[in-house]
Amino acid sequence: MSGLFITLEGPEGAGKSTNREYLAERLRASGLDVVLTREPGGTPLAERIRELLLAPSDEAMCVDTELLLMFAARAQHLAQVIRPALARGAVVLCDRFTDATYAYQGGGRGLSQERIAQLETFVQGTLRPDLTLVFDLPVEIGLARASARGRLDRFEQEGRAFFEAVRGAYLARAAAAPSRYRVIDAAQSLAQVQQALDALLPELRGLPRG
Ligand code: TMP
Repeated sequence: MSGLFITLEGPEGAGKSTNREYLAERLRASGLDVVLTREPGGTPLAERIRELLLAPSDEAMCVDTELLLMFAARAQHLAQVIRPALARGAVVLCDRFTDATYAYQGGGRGLSQERIAQLETFVQGTLRPDLTLVFDLPVEIGLARASARGRLDRFEQEGRAFFEAVRGAYLARAAAAPSRYRVIDAAQSLAQVQQALDALLPELRGLPRG
């Protein structure tokens, strides 16, 4: 039996953290074994790579270094957490995965899709999420929410054009493969977003597993 791999994506300030907890709780309430995790991170070593990636630093990080660190953290996370959980039949709910690489390193930093796709195949083989929820909202709202939270990390310090490109890349990926993506309007109130998630629950429970 193999489990179900669901990823949550979207820009900063889209409410992913609140909504991932909500979704995990609702899925657990229906008796499912849910593993809630995140990228970059999800294991002690991958969380250390996350610190390297997010900390502002005097030495500018090369775009290729950033890309490779994302996939290094992902390789560790897949080996230690995601693959074992899927193998035992769990639902893995992952806050960001490789769609974020296409959106941030591809859309935001301008790396080619081909280069990202090569690493995706190298690190993941044929594993892809079964379903990806994209929490979408206008860039200015996301940036205002993120800066209200306090100190900005290395990505949050980017400008508006970067985040427009990130958003565009997410929406383009969702439009290109609509069966794998659900776009959720994250500019709505929390109650409305959670209603939209509730509406997805029957579909999530009913997705083929194993
Ligand atoms: P967050 O998980 O707290 O939103 O922060 C993670 C940051 O890392 C966020 O700005 C998006 C960025 N990121 C990438 O640039 N590429 C990736 O592949 C992943 C997983 C995250």
